[in-house]
Amino acid sequence: MAAREISNRFSTVLITGGTDGLGRAAAVMLAEHSYRVFAAGRDAARREALAQLGRERGLPLETVEMDVCDDASVERALAEVRARAGPIDVLINSAGISYLAPMELVQMEHLRRQLETNFFGAVRVTQRVLPEMRERRRGCIVNMSSAAGRIVLPLFGPYSSSKFALEAMSDALRLELHPFGINVVLIEPGYIPTGFQAASVALSSPYAAAQSGPYATIYKNFLRERKTSVGQSPYTPEDCARVILRALRASPPRPRYTVTRIAQVAKWVKRLLSDRALDSYMIRTYWRERS
Ligand SMILES: NC(=O)c1ccc[n+]([C@@H]2O[C@H](COP(=O)([O-])OP(=O)(O)OC[C@H]3O[C@@H](n4cnc5c(N)ncnc54)[C@H](OP(=O)(O)O)[C@@H]3O)[C@@H](O)[C@H]2O)c1
Repeated sequence: MAAREISNRFSTVLITGGTDGLGRAAAVMLAEHSYRVFAAGRDAARREALAQLGRERGLPLETVEMDVCDDASVERALAEVRARAGPIDVLINSAGISYLAPMELVQMEHLRRQLETNFFGAVRVTQRVLPEMRERRRGCIVNMSSAAGRIVLPLFGPYSSSKFALEAMSDALRLELHPFGINVVLIEPGYIPTGFQAASVALSSPYAAAQSGPYATIYKNFLRERKTSVGQSPYTPEDCARVILRALRASPPRPRYTVTRIAQVAKWVKRLLSDRALDSYMIRTYWRERS
């Protein structure tokens, strides 16, 4: 069935991680398209800066404090949104962090934090908005996955684990919610410059010593690859926001939307290459000794 375009079938949108990066760009763009947007995050200064922008531009854009890792904080934020705007029509789970580390070395505490934020956090908020969506037989859950939710690179074990889990839970949800008129969509961006990369470097600093250990070659090649992709990325958070807007307007939306060329490539590589062929490409790329 071809997807039809519907404008603003949904009105109230809550975006976790909506105060920075991809979530913030989506918050602004959806508000510009007359959705009533609540952008959630922990940092008060970021929330205030975005709320200020909303006021200056007369956009239907508000902010709310929420730590997706904390039950009480999520309850408080949802109660606040409902008190201000009624039931939530669209939930966008964008809050996310990334630890880069070899699986042998990653500390359990960091791995838990990784999954708590990117996976359990999304489940925590989703479970709390679904009953009202199901009752009203309308709603949309948008989960911000990644190309790393399709393909795993060395050092991406912790992050990809969280995104693979998010992909699996989204697939389960989509099937379970089918009769209730609730859509579940995965957004899979490749590399888009935001504060995410610097935050990841900071979170991963306990593993700096690993750069000269047994995984030194992988690190060297990873840093070289990243320098190229960082320098060359022509994509902006607004490119991702446009895809989210398109997904919200499609009826029915696709289960998955890629953003960026590298995410498209990842999708096709995963479909077309055998595990062995993909491994051999990765091993050539990341274990090659270069001068
Ligand atoms: N940028 C990329 O290249 C890229 C590519 C693929 C996928 N993604 C995914 O896209 C999502 C957004 O990434 P981004 O680039 O927008 O990152 P970002 O610029 O670092 O923004 C992350 C947002 O998440 C919030 N956040 C982090 N931990 C949180 C927590 N415990 N509770 C509530 N909010 C929290 C941050 O706000 P506070 O710190 O104020 O809470 C911030 O608003 C992530 O899930 C990421 O994995 C990004």
